[in-house]
Amino acid sequence: MPVPLFASSLAGHLPRITERLAEVARSGRYILGPEAEAFERELAAYLGARHCVGVGNGTDALAIGLRTLGVGPGDEVVVPSFTFYATAEAVAAIGARPVFCDVDPASFCVTRETVERALTDGTRAIVPVHLFGNAAPVDALRELDLPILEDAAQAAGSALGGRRAGTLGHAAAFSFFPSKNLGGLGDGGALVTSDDRVAERARLLRSHGSRDKETYLEVGYNSRLDALQAAALRVLLPELDAWNARRRAVAAAYAERGLGRHLELPEPSPGAEHVYHLYVARHERPDALAGHLRARGVEARSYYRVPVHRQPAMASFLPDGRTPDLPGTDEAARTNLALPMGPALAEDQIDEVVAACASGST
Ligand SMILES: Cc1ncc(COP(=O)(O)O)c(C=O)c1O
Repeated sequence: MPVPLFASSLAGHLPRITERLAEVARSGRYILGPEAEAFERELAAYLGARHCVGVGNGTDALAIGLRTLGVGPGDEVVVPSFTFYATAEAVAAIGARPVFCDVDPASFCVTRETVERALTDGTRAIVPVHLFGNAAPVDALRELDLPILEDAAQAAGSALGGRRAGTLGHAAAFSFFPSKNLGGLGDGGALVTSDDRVAERARLLRSHGSRDKETYLEVGYNSRLDALQAAALRVLLPELDAWNARRRAVAAAYAERGLGRHLELPEPSPGAEHVYHLYVARHERPDALAGHLRARGVEARSYYRVPVHRQPAMASFLPDGRTPDLPGTDEAARTNLALPMGPALAEDQIDEVVAACASGST
């Protein structure tokens, strides 16, 4: 039985989305405008934040977010190395220096201790990543008294201590890349914050640093949320909680049906409500198991096999040109294996994944 890695529920909503897209096409307002403003208000209200600033993608949300927090050329920003490349790329893109910290391979997230080890006098911000939909311990990081930009690209709807990811630090970057828990029909992103000044500067930066298209106050970006994406996202946002609940039910079913006998299963961090953007387990021989699963039609793959601090483009940022020792990162990179997940995963597909893992582990 074929089982896809991403089991999306988008198809059932396409008729409504295409109606809304046709309305936007007829409206003649394609960039920002009332549709994007409505989505910004709705996402901010859903998260419990004062502001949402729609931008072109999650990478720009990170770069703009860092600048609004006062990070500039030469500043150090602590980022995990076990993450999607864009987390560190956005730091480098604004002329700042990514300083790589380790993760706990059990949560795949940074800890207060791993971040603390990476701090120097030059540190100007921290970017914890809520990786795979698990919340990083932002409350503990706040005690370090530095600006925090959450990378919430993979964590729409997740929470820590009852508060939504994206409202735990000073600002947060979201991505609406199609495979995300809240994914559009193309690229999109948002910077979320409850700080009025941060939001105002983000609005300026996303539009070339100008409010009136006459005077350009800063060198900014052309990075705005399209009305078409906003219209699609407005249809999907009301589904997010139910989809995430179904993702958690799939994770619970995997555990109940004995998947933990064959792999080390992902666990939410203490106090976290995991939204399983990806269901990433760990195994001593992930490539062999993935090959076995694929032969049975079950998609599986490892993520971030070469962590960011080992990527060629990051070599010039390493202190004294030396690769830092990040054992948790290397272990996560070596052992992780993503298994099928998504709100549309059927009961018999869950059974098939468990059976395939069982037969691959013997
Ligand atoms: C952790 C993380 N950060 C940042 C991004 C960048 O988002 P985008 O692809 O929308 O630029 C992504 C996703 O692609 C991501 O997974």
